[in-house]
Amino acid sequence: MTDITTRHALLEPVDLRDFHLPNRVVMAPITRARAANDLLVPTELHAAYYGQRASAGLIVTEGTWISERSIGFVDVPGIYRAEQVTAWRRVTDVVHALGGRIVQQLWHGGPETPAGMSAADIKATIADFAAAAENARRAGFDGVEVHAVGQFLLPQFLNAKVNRRTDGYGSARGKLLYEVVDAVAEPWDGRRVGVRLSPYWSTTENFAPDEETLTAYDEYVTTLNDHPVAYLHLRGRETGSPDFASIDRYRRQFDGPLIANLGFDRESANAVVAAGIADAVSFATHYIANPDLVARFALDRELASGDPATYYRGGAGGYVDYPESR
Ligand SMILES: Cc1cc2nc3c(=O)[nH]c(=O)nc-3n(C[C@H](O)[C@H](O)[C@H](O)COP(=O)(O)O)c2cc1C
Repeated sequence: MTDITTRHALLEPVDLRDFHLPNRVVMAPITRARAANDLLVPTELHAAYYGQRASAGLIVTEGTWISERSIGFVDVPGIYRAEQVTAWRRVTDVVHALGGRIVQQLWHGGPETPAGMSAADIKATIADFAAAAENARRAGFDGVEVHAVGQFLLPQFLNAKVNRRTDGYGSARGKLLYEVVDAVAEPWDGRRVGVRLSPYWSTTENFAPDEETLTAYDEYVTTLNDHPVAYLHLRGRETGSPDFASIDRYRRQFDGPLIANLGFDRESANAVVAAGIADAVSFATHYIANPDLVARFALDRELASGDPATYYRGGAGGYVDYPESR
C-alpha cells in the first residue's frame, strides 16, 4: 500500500524555520477588498473567511496597509491603528481556535516612488513597516510577510529601470528591502518573517523580466541569506503552466525554505515539492473557491472555480459562501 504522502508530497508536514506546518498547502495573499468601513478594519466576514481556510498549512493574509500613506486601494484593511489591531485579533483567535497558523502580509501600495522620496520619507517608511510588524504581533499573528511583489514601492526600489536614485538606495537597490526586513524582524526577535518576491513580474513594460533584472534578483536573494528571513515566497514566471526552472533559479541561491507560487494545481504542486524545488506551494485563485483545499487534495476531489466579478467587491457573496466539498 502506498502511503497518502507518497502520492501527495504536499500533505507531509514541514518546518519553514520557526513555522511548523502540518501540510505544505499555503494560502497565498489575496486582496479581497471587504473592509468597507471608515477605519479599514477587518470584520466578522474576515474572521469567517479565514476561519473556513484554517486547514491550510499556513495562511498569508491579504496585503495589509502599514500606514495611512501606504494606502493604494479602497476597502483593503490596515494594521497601523489600534482598532485594526483589535479587529485582527478576532481573526487570529478564530484561525488559531480552528488549528491554523496565520501570518500578516505587510504592504506599501501607495503613490510614493523611489524618485519622489526624501531620505526622511524612506526613514519614515521603514519605521511604518516596523510599527506594523509590532502591531501584527500584538494582534496575535504567527509572523509577518513583507510584500515586495508586483509594481509596488519595494519592488520599484529593486528595479534598475525604475530606481534611478543616486544615493545609497540607488547604488545598492536592495538596501531598502534589507532594511525593511531587519526592521520588521525586530518585534519578532529576528524570527518569523517571510519575504515575497516576483523577479519575473511583467505586467508593465518597465517591469519586463530581462536578464539584468533576473541577475539583480540573484544578488537580492543571496543577500537575504544574511538577514532574518524565515522563508522566501516566490512568484515564478508566468507562462501558462508552472515554470519549475524559474523557481529553481532562486531555490539554488536561497539557503532557507521556499514557498513556490503561480499557476499550480494538485499535480504540479506535488511534483515541485517532490522534486525538492519547493518546500511548500501557495494557491490564490484555488483558495478563493475551495475553502477546504487541503481536504480536496487529500480526497482527490474536483476543484471549484471562483467568480472573478466578486474577487475585489461584494460582501459575503463570492467571499464566504463557497461550500466545502461533500
Ligand atoms: C484576487 C487576487 C488578489 C491578490 N492579492 C494579492 C495580495 O494582496 N498580495 C500578493 O502578494 N499577491 C496577491 N495576489 C497574487 C496571488 O497571491 C498569486 O501570486 C497569483 O494569484 C498566482 O497564484 P495562483 O495561480 O495560485 O492564483 C492576488 C491575486 C488575486 C487573484
